[in-house]
Amino acid sequence: MNILRRGRLQVAPDQDIMRFTSSMEADKQIFNADIEVDKAHVVMLKEQGIISDVDCSAILSGLEKIQQDGITALDTSYEDVHIALEARLIEMVGEDTGGRMHSGRSRNDEVATCIRLTLMMELLGLMEESVDLVGILIKTAGKHHETIMPGYTHTQHAQPTTLAHNLLAHANAFMRDIERIRSAYRHTNQNPLGAAAFASTGFEIDRKRTTELLGFDSAFENSMDAVSTRDFMIESISCFSNMMTNLSRMAEELILWSSSEFGFIELDDRYSSTSSIMPQKKNPDIAELMRAKTGTVHGTLVSVLTICKALPYSYNRDLQEATPHLWRAVMTVRASVRMARGMIGTMTIKKYAMTRATDVGFMTATELADVIVRNTGIPFRTAHHIVGAIAKAGTTPTISILDRLSLEIIHEKLSDKGLTENAIRMALDPVDNVRKRGIQGGPSPLETKRQIAFIKKNIMFVKKDIRRSYDKINQASHKLSKICKKYK
Ligand code: ARG
Repeated sequence: MNILRRGRLQVAPDQDIMRFTSSMEADKQIFNADIEVDKAHVVMLKEQGIISDVDCSAILSGLEKIQQDGITALDTSYEDVHIALEARLIEMVGEDTGGRMHSGRSRNDEVATCIRLTLMMELLGLMEESVDLVGILIKTAGKHHETIMPGYTHTQHAQPTTLAHNLLAHANAFMRDIERIRSAYRHTNQNPLGAAAFASTGFEIDRKRTTELLGFDSAFENSMDAVSTRDFMIESISCFSNMMTNLSRMAEELILWSSSEFGFIELDDRYSSTSSIMPQKKNPDIAELMRAKTGTVHGTLVSVLTICKALPYSYNRDLQEATPHLWRAVMTVRASVRMARGMIGTMTIKKYAMTRATDVGFMTATELADVIVRNTGIPFRTAHHIVGAIAKAGTTPTISILDRLSLEIIHEKLSDKGLTENAIRMALDPVDNVRKRGIQGGPSPLETKRQIAFIKKNIMFVKKDIRRSYDKINQASHKLSKICKKYK
């Protein structure tokens, strides 16, 4: 007999209804967290004198056994892991004992607590993997401070830069992603347990105690908020979406760069596929899938936002439908980060193809205009006009051509105003262009070295922060299992 339905409901749902209703599949993600939450709750109930020592001991032993057997041993005809687990416990230790576990609690606060605990571990894992990705980006950048390549705007040759500068641009974006995830972690790190259905409980429970035993930083201020909100989920998935967009843009560059048109890199065989008909093909499928999975993650964000947007407070079953999107999003972003790390770390960089590509597209035009301004004192807009006219003509800039054009445009020769052939030659050198851009943020080798040092320092702080969070959770779970041993 179904322990949940036997009182109020007479007719059991058929299999089709159960498939529609059950969260058992997605609950695999929270099975371990659910056991931890049960243990913490039971320990607290005993310490508060709400259940007896004997009942506590029997329940804890039962939970231990259920944990060892795993979720597959549970009765899947129940609608979720929480009630299936309770039913199993009652089967093992009897209702007079097992039937006391759910005192002062609801599945509403229970599920919110389980999701938060599980998500916290996922966020820490994602942060670690992201730090790894940034690590490989700065390591690769460190070898390419002087690898000159074209920089693009509108996918058109724009100005010379270096591979280090390009990779560090992505590294900085991922550092911000990590920052955002840290902030999502802080908002996830709150204990809903004790909110019960939404109105808390008349049992004298100790919310501080379960907060401590589960390793949360604090307990929810308001019990209705605790069970109603999924904004922590939305915040996390927003971070994932943002990060996926950053990953996708990097993937897009890897796809372009590995084409014959660019020929800047060759991806490792592991991160490539071939064609079933064209034997010569080496395709960047992993990068393409990363680009595509970005759409999947954005979809999860819109799904959860839409599921939540019109829900009256407090708990509604709709909330169950949001959770699988969270797991899908976090698995996808974590895998994508690992793929990106692998691709960057194993790709072959074709330095000379990159540098050769700076010969075309007149990418030094900006520097030429700047040099004209600095040497002659004419306004930048006027120099822009003159150099633009040369670009249109498609001729190599020399002092005589520049003089002819400036005579037409401003009725003066630039050579009379201090421009020299040597200054022009220097302006047209891509290496010199890069070297000159040494102000904060620029691509000069000295500056990209400084940028790497800055990121390295930040990584140290992030790593410390991740360590601290792991330590807190591990210490709590250690403590909880020691207490459980004692009470068993
Ligand atoms: N499986 C449910 C979920 O994920 C657990 C909470 C069920 N609560 C309820 N009142 N039906 O949201």
